[in-house]
Amino acid sequence: MHGLNVLSLLLITTCLCDGRRAIEDRADNEFGLKMNRHYEPKSMFRMYTHGKDIQDACTVELFQAHTLQSCSFNSSHPLVIIIHGWSMDGMIESWVTRLAAALKSTQKDINILVSDWLTLAQQHYPIAVQNTRVVGQEIAQLLIWLENLTQFPVSNAHLIGYSLGAHIAGFAGRNLATLGRTLGRITGLDPAGPLFEGMSSTDRLSPDDARFVDAIHTFTQQHLGLSVGIKQPVAHYDFYPNGGSFQPGCHLHVKNLYTHLSQYGLMGFEQTMKCAHERAVHLFIDSLLNRDKQITAYRCRDNAAFNKGVCLDCRKNRCNTLGYDIKKVHTSTSKRLYLKTRSLMPYKMYHFQFRIQLFTQFEKIDPSLTIKLTGTLEESEVLPISLVKEVSGNKTYSFLITVDTDIGDLMMIHVSWEAESLWNNMWSKVKTIFPWESKEDGPKLTIGRIRVKAGETQQRATFCAQADDRPSIRPSEEKMFVRCDERREKQERVRSHG
Ligand SMILES: *[C@@H]1O[C@H](CO)[C@@H](O)[C@H](O)[C@H]1NC(C)=O
Ligand SMILES: *[C@@H]1O[C@H](CO)[C@@H](O)[C@H](O)[C@H]1NC(C)=O
Ligand SMILES: *[C@@H]1O[C@H](CO)[C@@H](O)[C@H](O)[C@H]1NC(C)=O
Repeated sequence: MHGLNVLSLLLITTCLCDGRRAIEDRADNEFGLKMNRHYEPKSMFRMYTHGKDIQDACTVELFQAHTLQSCSFNSSHPLVIIIHGWSMDGMIESWVTRLAAALKSTQKDINILVSDWLTLAQQHYPIAVQNTRVVGQEIAQLLIWLENLTQFPVSNAHLIGYSLGAHIAGFAGRNLATLGRTLGRITGLDPAGPLFEGMSSTDRLSPDDARFVDAIHTFTQQHLGLSVGIKQPVAHYDFYPNGGSFQPGCHLHVKNLYTHLSQYGLMGFEQTMKCAHERAVHLFIDSLLNRDKQITAYRCRDNAAFNKGVCLDCRKNRCNTLGYDIKKVHTSTSKRLYLKTRSLMPYKMYHFQFRIQLFTQFEKIDPSLTIKLTGTLEESEVLPISLVKEVSGNKTYSFLITVDTDIGDLMMIHVSWEAESLWNNMWSKVKTIFPWESKEDGPKLTIGRIRVKAGETQQRATFCAQADDRPSIRPSEEKMFVRCDERREKQERVRSHG
């Protein structure tokens, strides 16, 4: 079981130098792969069979051909190797079985092996990091052996590694590359950060390690200058759900870690730490289980730009599908993709870019605007527009709105100005001081056209105020916007009938 507890975090910081040295020592050795029948493998390969516990699964032993038959390995089917991460308790974590079962449910004719390197993983973190190279080498050995024995093409193998396992997959791919073979695909699920972040591409997972590499980063929030998951791109497509630093539903922030630790002890703490880190795994499982709810992610410079909604573009492969069904488009550089998710499975959310023109005569106002979307299928909840702060003058604001159900084609937008007590108080004071002042002079905001782009459908529409021509809004008021073309049609209909 993987887990980063506080002791380990401290350990990482104190052992950083030792770990670096160890990695360098190893890097000096060449990874020649010898078909050595006397070699004693340090890791194991367990064949997943539906309904059977991984710990009791049939074991494929390197260089023991009969174990392939006894485990019903079928070389005409593709192969997925699942690789776990660092282990605290020497047990296979439950997600391994869930992922294997999800893969099997999607693709019946598939060989699923679990790389069991628990004895090498249940070590001090820097030692486990050193061991990732050995395990990567053994996986490469397995694949070369399979090729020689059964003509199984290395390009038919997909390695899915979590945390340290992601880098193991990278080392396996690199070993194969030195033998002139190219691994089919590597998926890195929140690849580990400590001792890998900032390292050269040969010392971590990188796009050179397979024909296609994808990675999902879910816990890159920094603590003591380190983050559990690696921040930098390591793949052809790097996905950063919710910005990649932390995940919704994993509430406890690392900041409160010590309080939490004293309250719930190490296990509670471990669960919390695992939540965001392991989210990458569950997002991948989601892509297998909820085939009708594939998640689209969008290429963007950074999370701040994504939150402005300006990146919802799918032209020229700027968007891609997260998880198993990713479009394997080859790219020369790593591409960062962003998306928002729900806090529970199915994780899919629908993304909209809103561009609203706001006009005010006041110096600066901070209206708490909310919107509600009505689509052809459903109505959204009331959503706060948090990115419009300090409105002044006449400007167009762009922001991202996400809803967690498919509302269909957007037909109507309700914009409300939640009355803040501050405004009400101020306004009532103004009225007391100047009782003759009319209501017309209160704080007000003029909303021009609202342009919306839906990420998932790539459709654009412009919305206009439903009735009057000067659509200003005051605290505790609501305005309705409909598609401009329809409003025009309606008016024309009225005119032609009138
Ligand atoms: C392997 O799979 C192929 C195609 O699915 C099938 O025809 C064949 O019988 C299988 N081989 C074994 C040994 O099960
Ligand atoms: C392939 O296997 C044969 C025996 O089955 C062995 O003699 C040969 O050395 C192997 N090839 C490689 C490249 O290891
Ligand atoms: C705001 O600016 C736009 C053009 O930039 C203009 O068309 C519009 O009339 C302005 N709105 C107000 C209320 O001044």
